[in-house]
Amino acid sequence: MPEAPERLEDLRREGERAIAGAGSTAELEELRVRYLGRRAELTAILRSIGELPPEQRGPVGKGANQVKAALEGLLERRNAELEASELDRRLAEDRVDVTLPGDPPSPRGHLHLISQTRREMEDIFVGLGFRVVEGPEVEYDYYNFTALNHPPDHPARMLQDTFYFSDQVVLRTHTSPMQVRAMEAQEPPIYIVIPGRVYRRDSDATHTQMFHQLEGLAVDEDITLGDLRGVLLEFARAMFGEEREVRLRSGYFPFTEPSVEVDISCFICDAKGRLHDGSRCPTCKGTGWIEILGSGMVDPNVLGFVRDNGYDPERVQGFAFGMGIDRIAMLKHGVPDLRPLFENDIRMLEQFGS
Ligand code: PHE
Repeated sequence: MPEAPERLEDLRREGERAIAGAGSTAELEELRVRYLGRRAELTAILRSIGELPPEQRGPVGKGANQVKAALEGLLERRNAELEASELDRRLAEDRVDVTLPGDPPSPRGHLHLISQTRREMEDIFVGLGFRVVEGPEVEYDYYNFTALNHPPDHPARMLQDTFYFSDQVVLRTHTSPMQVRAMEAQEPPIYIVIPGRVYRRDSDATHTQMFHQLEGLAVDEDITLGDLRGVLLEFARAMFGEEREVRLRSGYFPFTEPSVEVDISCFICDAKGRLHDGSRCPTCKGTGWIEILGSGMVDPNVLGFVRDNGYDPERVQGFAFGMGIDRIAMLKHGVPDLRPLFENDIRMLEQFGS
């Protein structure tokens, strides 16, 4: 192989050009086999060095190894370049358009019936000028009872109603403790509603140990029972239809004076007490009225606990109310049993889509 040195130069130039022009890593692999593989010309030259005249062995061996190293280096660099650009292209081409509907499109979910109802109720009260605030579910006895004017021996403090963590700490049995917390945090006037989970040791078809309430509190300089009635009438009509009426009956809560139970006219039988076929209306049990909440004028004793926060019982007064969100949902959607709503069976919950 007398022209080995010139041939080596040719091989180097040819290889360099081919590698620079390779368009893909696959093409590059073919070139590696062609120029450096077992059957490559360069490999043959390296293998036959022993057959050369002794004076040529040194220079040809050195030259061939240089060409080999040069081509290997080039292959490696070009390979890195091509891999990077192939990745870029794959990333661009495989981009997923997350705004496309699924294939097949998956059905849109919806909020739990209780969340839907809570939001609907919040919207009505926000429209009437109330602000939504929330409070802790693990509560001090002080806020749950004491500051709400519960005498020390009031039956609601007894174990069958309340989950106690300790003498001082309970799971709140109602959303009313937030009345006091909110008044501590904000001077009058205050117009708030407080939705949230509450807990009682109570369990049957219409009572679960965890349930939901929405509390309302308005304290200002000229609040009367008429304002309470007007707000609740607006709520009843927005929630259950324009023809609804409300009825106030006297009741008792330690933290309101006077206290009233509030009924709405039955929206199933239109307050007649009978259905079209003459049978007794099951929703109002034939009375034409459905009890929906407890309320009253804030007892001045409660304001006494927040007097230092600006609530002078001689100067301000207010009303408060509390209703069961679950009860409103059951009434409105004809749910006979509350318990399945909290058992997370999707077949049950799916019925209440919107
Ligand atoms: N907290 C009372 C209950 O759970 C309801 C209520 C709230 C009554 C506010 C009066 C005023 O039964």
